[in-house]
Amino acid sequence: KNGLQVAIDGPASAGKSTVAKLVAKQFNYIYCDTGAMYRAVTLKAIQQGISLDNEPEIAKIVKESKITFTPDETGQKVFIDHHDVSEAIRSEEVTNSVSAVAAIAAVRKQLSAQQQAIAKDGGIVMDGRDIGTAVLPNAEVKIFLVASVEERAKRRYKENIQKGINTPLDELQLEIEARDYKDSHRKISPLTKATDATEIDTTALSIDQVVSEIAKVINSKL
Ligand code: C5P
Repeated sequence: KNGLQVAIDGPASAGKSTVAKLVAKQFNYIYCDTGAMYRAVTLKAIQQGISLDNEPEIAKIVKESKITFTPDETGQKVFIDHHDVSEAIRSEEVTNSVSAVAAIAAVRKQLSAQQQAIAKDGGIVMDGRDIGTAVLPNAEVKIFLVASVEERAKRRYKENIQKGINTPLDELQLEIEARDYKDSHRKISPLTKATDATEIDTTALSIDQVVSEIAKVINSKL
């Protein structure tokens, strides 16, 4: 193995991908955003006009598509069938539909297997909802990032403004709560903190502070 497996889980907009990218950079590890994989499948289903409760058709999409990542200055680009969907998968429509797709057993089974293959040699920071509990139960480092829902809605609001999206703050908070509820209450590998994960509350911390907390945990295992 060339380095550890670092699993970073937590609810929506807790800052997982931002800090995961920086941690990966610091340790020269690969970064893998598993949420992007669920989002890419959701985008393709929407584009093909497939209803989100049509489980067999959505499972077929996963089977027949190839999701790949390439690193870039900002972290990574996401491709499905060689189309760059890095921006399209962040739309409000995909964000508010993805939990339904992520609850489908056949989708989780296939994407988890792909994630395990990506992580098998270690030297990886993988973020998601079930990485420490289901995808990489033996990861040497498990982090569970949380933040108050008000703070998470504020962060999402700021990001949106930069992208020219103007959803009101209270609406964003309701969307985040709804997504967390669905992700935490689905039958298969719901969002939950692994018993051996280190929980970090990022509400009052800067990005750098969170990165340095995680780096401490990693260094303690090296
Ligand atoms: O991390 P992000 O917010 O991009 O994830 C989008 C959605 O993908 C989550 O709300 C969840 O429904 C799903 N997901 C998942 N398991 C993961 C990563 C993401 O179910 N490991």
